Amino acid sequence: MMKLYLNPASPFARKVRISALELALAERIELIEVSLSPVQPHHGLRSHNPLGKIPALLTEANEALYDSPVICEYLDALAGGDRLWPAAGAARWRALRRQALADGLAEAAILMRYELVIRPEALRWSEWLDDQRLKVRTALDALEAEPLDGPFDIGAISIVCALEYLEFRFPEERWREGRPQLAAWHERLRRRPSVASTRPA
Ligand code: BEZ
Repeated sequence: MMKLYLNPASPFARKVRISALELALAERIELIEVSLSPVQPHHGLRSHNPLGKIPALLTEANEALYDSPVICEYLDALAGGDRLWPAAGAARWRALRRQALADGLAEAAILMRYELVIRPEALRWSEWLDDQRLKVRTALDALEAEPLDGPFDIGAISIVCALEYLEFRFPEERWREGRPQLAAWHERLRRRPSVASTRPA
């Protein structure tokens, strides 16, 4: 049995869970929930990932893997390869770039969340927060401008996780407004079982 350290709210951990479901590997993964704060490290997790970050996977050989792109590619290889990670050529670079864009969007949103919920009010830095918000919005605009139709690969998985994290923590951002293509693309995917069953409550 593999072990996945995760938090259900994390869009990066969700990428791993969706990949595992899509690859029919979920039953080989035990989920270990950790609640994390940037200022309260989890020592058990840190013994596997020195960065103390989720998601981290312990393989069946008890080897630790992190972060989400590495774990997702490992699962794809375990399932035979070239399923969610196009093997070569333009499709591969497109999927990897989309993953980078979506992960960057999710990271900016998480940093906003930390700034607003965890950092003491007196220490908040509004210009920094504004820059994270700008990253989120320009990434959303870039996704709106890009035809996203294609296979449900690691690029698409990363985008769904980033969009739904934004919806989960920042509904007031109303990312769909002014972005009809992205909203329609998301609407077509939101009921997919791997997506619907991993949505944070
Ligand atoms: C959250 O609660 O928003 C969160 C938790 C873990 C990782 C990322 C985000």
